[in-house]
Amino acid sequence: IQAEKGGYKHFMLKEIWEQPRAIRDTTLGRFSLDSGKVYLGEMDIDDEELAAASSINIAACGTSWHAGMAGKYMIERLARLPVDVDYASEYRYRNPIPDRNALGLLITQSGETADTLAAQREMKNLGSKTVAICNVVGAMVAREAHGAIYTHAGPEIGVASTKAFTSQLTALFLLALKLGQLRGRLDKEKSVALMEELSRTPAKIEEVLRISSPQCEQLAKDFSNARDFLYLGRGIHFPIALEGALKLKEISYIHAEGYPAGEMKHGPNALIDETLPVVVLASRDESDPASKLRYEKTLSNIQEVTARSGRVIAIATEGDTTIGQLVEHVIHIPATIELLSPLLEIVPLQLLAYYIAVRRGCDVDQPRNLAKSVTVE
Ligand code: G6P
Repeated sequence: IQAEKGGYKHFMLKEIWEQPRAIRDTTLGRFSLDSGKVYLGEMDIDDEELAAASSINIAACGTSWHAGMAGKYMIERLARLPVDVDYASEYRYRNPIPDRNALGLLITQSGETADTLAAQREMKNLGSKTVAICNVVGAMVAREAHGAIYTHAGPEIGVASTKAFTSQLTALFLLALKLGQLRGRLDKEKSVALMEELSRTPAKIEEVLRISSPQCEQLAKDFSNARDFLYLGRGIHFPIALEGALKLKEISYIHAEGYPAGEMKHGPNALIDETLPVVVLASRDESDPASKLRYEKTLSNIQEVTARSGRVIAIATEGDTTIGQLVEHVIHIPATIELLSPLLEIVPLQLLAYYIAVRRGCDVDQPRNLAKSVTVE
């Protein structure tokens, strides 16, 4: 077992550090910078059919559901195609409206999660074709789907998902690119620029790992006794807040909540006091007006927290000197486009959860009451 951990103390830590490789492998052969084309993989759905999809229904569980939420922002922004995201366990019970032109999209690391498979069956019963984003070749979900986009994260052993998540985000970005092209929203030049930024992402994650790892280890000393944590984000950063909170809950048993930053005043503000750590996702893409606006709004949310003595840990973009003056702790990540920033932002949140759990003496790779794949409904 020690050998399988490749010198790391836990599988989870090894898998966190494997993310640059996992993303490289997931993008390998999937796009061409010369032609600007995207190649998704084994598809029984041709391009015309994909182009004609009226909407996308995503169903998934846990971390994969968070990837789906982020994927919604990617697809809606790049392809202007409406996306619904359901918890797989809820999908069947909300009496979904049949639409043969809606494409079903299942996201699942294992490909065997019972609720996700049940949602897929329901989608097919309603006349939709389904595509699976899956990490296990030949898994049930892929066999049942009309198309599979495999993530190449490699086997994930830690119950708390890390590299599978960032690989799912990568696959979703590629799918969004493909749909954007098919729907005439992305020309070659734009596509190639997005692909180039995607290919720079693994190196940027390496930088995040190097820089934030000692920072998170240090932060864990200060915060491992907290009773609750809050994670805040806006837009595509909101699902990352949810995922950061889930990581902490799963492995450290500290209660944590993710919230859209703008909703604070409708409830969670009442929780803030000097004992509450608040992790705020506050990166920005200066070239993108929508991102700058979101950033400005997030700054005012930070001020609302600090005014009530909450203890803020901010994730911010390199070169941002404003934020450091407002909060106790800042973790800097390299600049990137907003749609790819989740791949960088989640890394320090994974590390923070990991180091806190280790300090609390928790069984990081096999948290109590949880299973790696849940094959019962
Ligand atoms: C379990 C695991 C989670 C995972 C979820 C969905 O709860 O502990 O890490 O996100 O199942 O699994 P899937 O294999 O469908 O992505």
